[in-house]
Order: sequence, then structure tokens, then C-alpha cells
Amino acid sequence: MLLEDRVAIVTGGSQGIGRAISLKLSAEGARVSIADVNEEAGNKTAREIREAGGEAIFVKVDVTSPEDTDRMVKETVDSLGALHILVNNAGITRDRLLLRMTDEDWQRVLDVNLKGAFNCIRSSVRVMARARYGRIVNIASIVGITGNPGQANYAASKGGLIALTKTVAREFASRGITCNAVAPGFIDTAMTQAMPEKAREELRGRIPLQRLGTPEDVAEGVLFLASDGAGYITGEVLNINGGMSM
Ligand SMILES: NC(=O)c1ccc[n+]([C@@H]2O[C@H](COP(=O)([O-])OP(=O)(O)OC[C@H]3O[C@@H](n4cnc5c(N)ncnc54)[C@H](O)[C@@H]3O)[C@@H](O)[C@H]2O)c1
Repeated sequence: MLLEDRVAIVTGGSQGIGRAISLKLSAEGARVSIADVNEEAGNKTAREIREAGGEAIFVKVDVTSPEDTDRMVKETVDSLGALHILVNNAGITRDRLLLRMTDEDWQRVLDVNLKGAFNCIRSSVRVMARARYGRIVNIASIVGITGNPGQANYAASKGGLIALTKTVAREFASRGITCNAVAPGFIDTAMTQAMPEKAREELRGRIPLQRLGTPEDVAEGVLFLASDGAGYITGEVLNINGGMSM
């Protein structure tokens, strides 16, 4: 058990990659707080963990609201006793070519993907700094490094998240808090299932390992960065993309 006695918050933990991360951290002994806007799916995932013998709660949180993220940390500490690990996974897309992208498309994606992570980090680091221990893992994306047509808002949010990761790593290293990012390539979830089959097929052709990733592929990397074994790694970006960006 790599995470015995640890408490983790996973934002967007109800479904997809966040759900796989929640299950993985729990299987390694962590008590998990699932923080998501989707109450029904979040409660279902928390129940699934409890039925498997783990400990989990669901907290209804919109990461764009600082009041919500403060309450998320308070409810987690009150119910689960501590906070050691924060996984910033909540994210959305609103894809459109730049000339057709509305102000609202731009702002909403930046608010959830980047400001949301900032809110969760600011709410969490006070507790972590007091304990002089913390592991923060931000779920970025390959397109935050390479860019992608149709994703100006999303790519900017994920590139920003990588810069935020490095800054938090520098600001909080002396408090025993590490902050790293995982940059998944194309993972088989609701987000990519929305793509036309032809585009998915074309994509597979560009992946050396010849398949889309699974949520579990991403969860394995998060588990490592959240574990004590990664204690000398901070400000890093771990690519999990089947070799797409080597
Ligand atoms: N699927 C991929 O190919 C891929 C690739 C790279 C990065 N990512 C990133 O991984 C993360 C998870 O993606 P996924 O594919 O599992 O997506 P998903 O849409 O299946 O899940 C996203 C989760 O975030 C929650 N969420 C959305 N807005 C929220 C908000 N304001 N507050 C709280 N929760 C909110 C949703 O309810 C949902 O449970 C995202 O950050 C995404 O950008 C995904």
C-alpha cells in the first residue's frame, strides 16, 4: 500500500480519468474526497469505493468558486482527518477554431481548467504547509505543450497550468509540498468519445503505441507522483501519451 493513512482530494473525480484516479488512490490505501459538480456520478463513485472496502466521501464543488474550494478542504479535513494529496483533474473543453471562438468559450475553459486549479491549490496549501507535507498533481494535457487547432482556449489553459505547477513547486518546496503535472495524450473518455470516429482513427495512427490511453494509464502516473517515492520530484511534467510527443 503506497498511500496508507493518506487523504486525497480528486477534483472532477466522478467520472473518466478522475474516477480512475480516485479508485487507484483508494486501492493503495488513501481516504478519498471526490470533489465534483456532478452529484449523481460523484456519489456513485464514492459508493463504489466504500463497497470495495475503502473510505470515500463526495463533496459537491464547482472549482471556479473559491467559497466552494474552501468548503471542499474544510469538509475533507473534518470528515477524513487531514489533507495530504490534491489532484486537480476537473476540466472541460469548448473546441472551436479561433476566429469562431466566443469570449464565453474562452473564459469558461480558462475559469474551470486554470482558475479552478488555482482556487483548489490556494484552499489546500494552508493545511498542507501547516503539516509540512503535500503532494499536488495537476492534470494538464499534451496540447498544453504542442498546441492544437480548435483548442486555443483549452491549450492555453493547460499551458498555463504547467506554468502554475512550476511556480507552486518553487513557492512551496521549503514547506515539504511538491507540485507536478501529468500531461495525458488522447485518453478514451467522454471527452474524446465526442470526436468523430474518422478523427479518432487518424489519431491512433499518430500514436507509436497504437492505441488511445485508458484512464487507468493516467491514474498510474498520478499514483507515483502522489506517493512518498516521488519526494524528490517537483515542478515536473510527466507525459502519458503512448509516445506521441517524444
Ligand atoms: N480525455 C483525454 O483525452 C484527456 C487528455 C488530456 C487531458 N485530459 C484532462 O483530464 C481531465 C479529466 O478529463 P476526462 O476526459 O476524464 O473528462 P470528463 O469530462 O470525463 O470528466 C471531467 C470531470 O470534471 C468535472 N467537472 C467539470 N467542470 C467542473 C467544475 N467546474 N467543478 C468541478 N468539477 C467539474 C465533471 O463533472 C467530470 O466529472 C481534464 O482536466 C482533461 O482536460 C483529458
